[in-house]
Amino acid sequence: MNLLEKARKYEALHGAEVAAEERPLFHISAQVGWLNDPNGFSFYKGKYHQFFQYHPYSNHWGPMHWGHCVSDDMTKWEYLPAVLAPDQPYETGCFSGSALTLDDGRQLFMYTSHLDHVYEDGSTGVTETQSLAFGDGLNYEKYEGNPVITAADLPEGASSADFRDPKIWREEDGTYACVTVGRDLATDEGQVYLFRSPDAIHWTYEQTLEKSGMVYGDMWECPDFFRLDGKDVLLVGCMNMCAPSEDFRPGNCVIAIIGEYDRATKTWKHESIQALDMGFDFYASQTMVGPDGRCLLSGWMESVESGSCIRHGAKWQCMLSYPRELHVKDGRIYQLPVREIEKYYQNPVTVDEPAFCGTQSYAGVSGRVLDLTAEVSFEDSACKTFAMKFAADSRFETVVSYDTAAGKLTVNRMKAGGHHDIANLRTFPVKLHDGKLKLRLLLDRFSGELFLNDGEYAFSLTLYETPQDAQDIVFMADAPVALHIEKHDIVID
Ligand code: FRU
Repeated sequence: MNLLEKARKYEALHGAEVAAEERPLFHISAQVGWLNDPNGFSFYKGKYHQFFQYHPYSNHWGPMHWGHCVSDDMTKWEYLPAVLAPDQPYETGCFSGSALTLDDGRQLFMYTSHLDHVYEDGSTGVTETQSLAFGDGLNYEKYEGNPVITAADLPEGASSADFRDPKIWREEDGTYACVTVGRDLATDEGQVYLFRSPDAIHWTYEQTLEKSGMVYGDMWECPDFFRLDGKDVLLVGCMNMCAPSEDFRPGNCVIAIIGEYDRATKTWKHESIQALDMGFDFYASQTMVGPDGRCLLSGWMESVESGSCIRHGAKWQCMLSYPRELHVKDGRIYQLPVREIEKYYQNPVTVDEPAFCGTQSYAGVSGRVLDLTAEVSFEDSACKTFAMKFAADSRFETVVSYDTAAGKLTVNRMKAGGHHDIANLRTFPVKLHDGKLKLRLLLDRFSGELFLNDGEYAFSLTLYETPQDAQDIVFMADAPVALHIEKHDIVID
């Protein structure tokens, strides 16, 4: 049996052993086994397709396949059979990549063929090259001319081992372009290469767009380059970053570089740099342009550290974030959950407290699968700390709090039930607008995603170890503030 058939049989058999309530309701998890980066996020033949890095056979990262989910609305997902397995002599793993619809109606994947070598003397090495596969939304065939970009196409001094994660797009003139990451052997810096092609098959290196400078991490991963709201945006996953300021977080994280790219002169001028998501668990994001022109983002809702905390007995490990719509405003990326979530709103509750003070819960404002917005006005208030606990009961809680004097937000999941020594506490500056803080929380059984001030900041966190019956939501303020709450349960039949 070939490797893809084997994976398809395995996932159908073992995926069925997982009860629906053991999975997130509207976030993607692997049918069975391990999942990491979102790949090939696309709208094809009238549906949203989300592929992902996938090792069906265990809860650990392993030889990479591509798993597949499909949806009408990015919220209610259905599994389709895995699409790629590492079954060629030039690859031991099908690493991350992207998708595009061709003029002839086929869908194209551009992905990294990762090859682990064991040499005759027992030493080992890695080569990464870029490959193609063509398909119909269900089955994909690898191009017989693979790989289509190799280290021979790179400028001198570029690593052939760290060269991956192509993000392909179509230019207005009908030609193709892609960005990949690479590494400068002399300095060890991660970098982003831009390639061009007339036909998506023959590729030419054009330039190195950006380098890590060893400030924004060392090696880079999963680049993305797109135009949005009159700006050019480069997203990259930075490995092993020491946070350059308190507006960033350490570890592997995604940064957004906003600037202007002049195609005629090939000059890329960056203007601002930010962390895309300040949360404990977010990495390896990828965007696509939706059928209505929206810029949609999907990410791996884990960190390298949290993803490796394997849950005892669980049949699947790791989730993707809920898709977000991106905008650029005032030199920042703004991101909010896609509006499709509203289709599944039920049991609305609104609370209006012109002078909220003390500690309070509200009837109907509780649960683990919901979308809640709390708007707090600190104007003319002596309030020093406002806080909201969620996924809480008498033993467990995760707390988001705002310190008005410091202008900082803290997320604390120290009491969320986890027993791994991973990041569980983070504080970072968050500005108020007209004295107001807007907190939106999207909860889905095993995770929470926070969006502050209409998407000015995002914060993703997993909640694997908080029991599902820890459903309380509690608000606290040490002096009167105006508080407005809107809550909807999310129900998918
Ligand atoms: C990022 C990453 C990518 C690579 C893939 C392998 O998480 O390391 O650079 O393509 O995961 O699974």
